[in-house]
Amino acid sequence: MNHFSSPEHASPPSTATLSPASSVQRELQAGLLAAKAHTSPKYFYDNVGSVLFEAICELPEYYPTRTEADIFSRHLSEMAHVIGSGTTLIDMGAGNCAKAARLFPQLHPQQYVPIDISVDHLQESVKRLQQRFPHIEMTALGLDFSTPWALPDEVRPDKRLFFYPGSSIGNFDQDQALAFLRQMHAACQVTDTAGNGSVVDGGILIGVDLIKNHKLLDAAYDDALGVTAAFNLNLLRHVNRVLASDFKVSDWQHVAFFNPDQARIEMYLEARSEVTVRWPGAERHFAQGQRIHTENSYKYSIPSFLHLLEQAGFGRARYWCDPAGWFAVFYAQAF
Ligand code: AVI
Repeated sequence: MNHFSSPEHASPPSTATLSPASSVQRELQAGLLAAKAHTSPKYFYDNVGSVLFEAICELPEYYPTRTEADIFSRHLSEMAHVIGSGTTLIDMGAGNCAKAARLFPQLHPQQYVPIDISVDHLQESVKRLQQRFPHIEMTALGLDFSTPWALPDEVRPDKRLFFYPGSSIGNFDQDQALAFLRQMHAACQVTDTAGNGSVVDGGILIGVDLIKNHKLLDAAYDDALGVTAAFNLNLLRHVNRVLASDFKVSDWQHVAFFNPDQARIEMYLEARSEVTVRWPGAERHFAQGQRIHTENSYKYSIPSFLHLLEQAGFGRARYWCDPAGWFAVFYAQAF
């Protein structure tokens, strides 16, 4: 799971109201009625969508997951040497905690703080992990990064290391990415023990997908089995539950391609024929071929990501790549 995860909506609104009742419904409606219709990527991750995303990570075309894992297994001891032991390891979007757990034997964190949108989701994984690593203090947190967040006092203030793997930073646009990095930087600022002001103590360990051959990028987001297509189309079922809308999955098709001018994969759902979608209080007509923009996945160059880190207040960066230069893991210190 990642920071865009959203809990399954238990039940759709039972009566047709004229204006959407909740802020979630209002935000969704505003996007669907915009001149260029769009939805947030958080609607991918209902129960089915989360399983489909796990399947995507196993696909031969979707290189990021295995390439990042390979970088960690080749370079973890050097990373651990550079970072040092005794960190407060803060896992931003922990899911089943598996990626962070692979770091423990070499990184030796003092405290592990897995964060996900739902803390219940984390409990089982943390319980299992605590048995394997009884000497590491573990504090699971439920936080939604789409709204301003702060870490509670149980999180140790010293040597905070924010762990953000999986190239999830790519699903933010440049301004959002900078704001998110700056929030992590702010959380590395702690009051010194004498209470005389604040010191900066911490860093970030982050996985970033790199710009590469466009065919490889296109295939990663439009695989031969159609798993990414199903992942994209499943969003409509989630939207139907949240908005009580009547999207028919068979009226839509998956479109994904790399846009080199924006250095990003763009994902859309495209109307196969003319269609009108209705929900309580509103409707939207789509002409054949008209699209709903469902996701961007930004790709970076090494210099462009170093620049972003620098803008957010992180420096003395180190990075490790796979031999083909498809993916990079950066470590940078807050200054
Ligand atoms: C979660 N995120 C990093 C994935 C990506 O590659 O942008 C989401 C995804 N969308 C389609 N395939 C995978």
